[in-house]
Parts: sequence; structure tokens; C-alpha cells
Amino acid sequence: MTGRQPPMTPIKDPPPHGWDEALNMGIPEVDRQHKALYSQVASLCDRTQQDRVGDTLLFLQNYVVEHFGTEEKLHEETGYPHADAHLKVHAEFIQTFLKMKQEYESDTEQNGLLILMKLTKALMDWLYQHVMGMDREFAGYWHARAQNPPYADPETDD
Ligand SMILES: [Fe+2]
Ligand SMILES: [Fe+2]
Repeated sequence: MTGRQPPMTPIKDPPPHGWDEALNMGIPEVDRQHKALYSQVASLCDRTQQDRVGDTLLFLQNYVVEHFGTEEKLHEETGYPHADAHLKVHAEFIQTFLKMKQEYESDTEQNGLLILMKLTKALMDWLYQHVMGMDREFAGYWHARAQNPPYADPETDD
């Protein structure tokens, strides 16, 4: 050993909040909204943020309306056969969100860290279970349909 240390290689900053390409659906509007959620989850882990839980709950309040609305409209427009099951899971997520919101608003025992951890886990699970599962299944249907658009039903055509 000469006592000389190799120069430190600085750890590269990831791009702001990054994105996991594995979550891409190839449906632009849906991807844009999923990216916004991904970015929000990353913010939950950012210790420089002031009220991470409060900000995320505020984000989710609009998100569930806008994003679930977008997906459910696409299901309807394309006659997606699994729309009902998908809608049910969206409704369950809204219940989870409302429960967390209530827990956060009545947090008199300063369980902030616990709520933060629960919310982070719930959203990570949502991204990697619902988005990678049901949303991806719909994306497969959507792409297949875009390649082979159904013929108009002569019975319903005037
Ligand atoms: Fe989604
Ligand atoms: Fe969905």
C-alpha cells in the first residue's frame, strides 16, 4: 500500500424520480399517469420533502379520479371483457386510500413514520401487482384490438 487512495467515484444521481421501463403499457395516456404515480412514490422516499404523506394523499385524491377514469373509459370504449373485475379492484384501492387518509388525519399519536411506511408499501404493491397484472392484461387486449379492429356489427348499423 502506498497510502494513496483511488479517487472517489461519485455516486451518480438517478434521473429525477426515474421510471421502471417494465411498467410501460404502450398506451401513452395511461403511461403518463402511471409515471406520475411512480414519481410520487419516489417522493415518498425523499427525506428532503416536508409532508410526504400529506402531499401524496393529496395527489392520490385527484389521481384515483383521473387515472381510474381514463382506464375505465378505455375499457368501456373497447368492450373489455374483464372490465367489471378491474373496476372492483380500483374501487378497493379507493377504500384503501380513504382509510389511509382517515388514519393520517386522525394521527394524534404521532404515528407518521408508520403511516409513511404503510402508504409506501401500498403504492409499491399497487404498481407492481395491479399495474403489472391487471393493467398489463388490459394493455395486451388493447394492442391486440388495435392491430385487429373488430368489424362493425351489421345488426347494430343503421
Ligand atoms: Fe393503472
Ligand atoms: Fe387499473
